[in-house]
Amino acid sequence: MKFFTIIIALWVATLGYAHPHLHWTPPGPGDVRGPCPMLNSLANHAYLPHDGKNIDVAITKKALLDALNIDEDLGQFLFDNAITTNPVPNATAYSLADLSRHNILEHDASFSRQDAHSGPQDVFDAKTFAETQSYWHGPVINVTMAAQARQARIRTSNATNPEYSLSPLGVGFSLGEAAAYLIILGDRENHTARKNVVEYLFENERLPTKLGWQRPEPLVTFVELQNVMGKLYNETDLDIRTLARRGMHG
Ligand code: HEM
Ligand SMILES: *[C@@H]1O[C@H](CO)[C@@H](O)[C@H](O)[C@H]1NC(C)=O
Ligand SMILES: *[C@@H]1O[C@H](CO)[C@@H](O)[C@H](O)[C@H]1NC(C)=O
Ligand SMILES: *[C@@H]1O[C@H](CO)[C@@H](O)[C@H](O)[C@H]1NC(C)=O
Ligand SMILES: *[C@@H]1O[C@H](CO)[C@@H](O)[C@H](O)[C@H]1NC(C)=O
Ligand SMILES: *[C@@H]1O[C@H](CO)[C@@H](O)[C@H](O)[C@H]1NC(C)=O
Repeated sequence: MKFFTIIIALWVATLGYAHPHLHWTPPGPGDVRGPCPMLNSLANHAYLPHDGKNIDVAITKKALLDALNIDEDLGQFLFDNAITTNPVPNATAYSLADLSRHNILEHDASFSRQDAHSGPQDVFDAKTFAETQSYWHGPVINVTMAAQARQARIRTSNATNPEYSLSPLGVGFSLGEAAAYLIILGDRENHTARKNVVEYLFENERLPTKLGWQRPEPLVTFVELQNVMGKLYNETDLDIRTLARRGMHG
């Protein structure tokens, strides 16, 4: 009986008392993925459909809430943007592959993907990511490092890609993506994230539970996201703040 109790206790401990996450399996034949390392991870864990297809508003909100404690308003906002990438008129769902369509949400100067001009804009690219990583000094990424990594990617793309473009929406998404990894994967009091946790998500497209990461608590809101986006913007050089859309329609 005592032994049995210990086994149960160990089992509960390995599940993670606070929030057990769904089982992870890599994408298989017929499954689609896109440019977002987090949505790809959520599909791999089957919070989103494992095939990456037919993602409607209810599925989006439930996945973001269950896996990441993202509130309904932010979930709705993200869905409203995602649905614009489905070319079918009046569509009510999108696929992760739709998200890869260039210059809707997908943009140049990503942290871990090539520009559409040079290679696939949806799959992880270690060389591109290495430039981002080179600004993450030490074991903890702070707002300054995240902002400098982002602006370095923008400078490099602007200098090397004759078709470089970053629309105002692209600028917003890019700031939002940097804020998102700091908030969702990090310490929300200090706006920092452990580098190994962030790298693990990008490199494995898997929630970094084995590194001690846990579902954020309390709810993640748009207000918090915008606050961290503002801090990143404030740590960005003036020329980069205004560097949008060279190449966008000429
Ligand atoms: C429905 C919700 C979401 C949608 C529609 C979405 C969409 C996208 C898209 C289209 C990109 C590609 C941008 C590019 O070209 O670089 C992207 C990138 C990214 N997303 Fe998401 N995303 C969502 C949720 C999240 C969440 C919750 C996180 C939390 C960490 C996240 C983190 C990121 C990061 C870090 C990138 C940058 C990848 C890179 O630059 O290499 N996303 N997302
Ligand atoms: C899409 O919705 C609009 C407005 O409800 C409607 O006028 C239009 O016919 C719809 N288009 C298609 C292809 O269903
Ligand atoms: C981030 O860390 C660097 C290096 O330790 C430091 O110079 C910088 O001021 C920090 N930024 C913030 C916002 O704390
Ligand atoms: C972007 O590229 C253009 C053209 O090569 C150059 O004139 C401009 O200085 C660049 N801007 C930044 C901020 O790097
Ligand atoms: C924020 O940083 C301070 C000082 O390093 C630390 O004591 C505190 O625990 C950090 N907050 C969180 C939520 O980890
Ligand atoms: C950014 O800087 C401005 C001007 O110094 C300041 O008013 C604002 O509060 C800062 N934003 C954030 C989110 O810290």
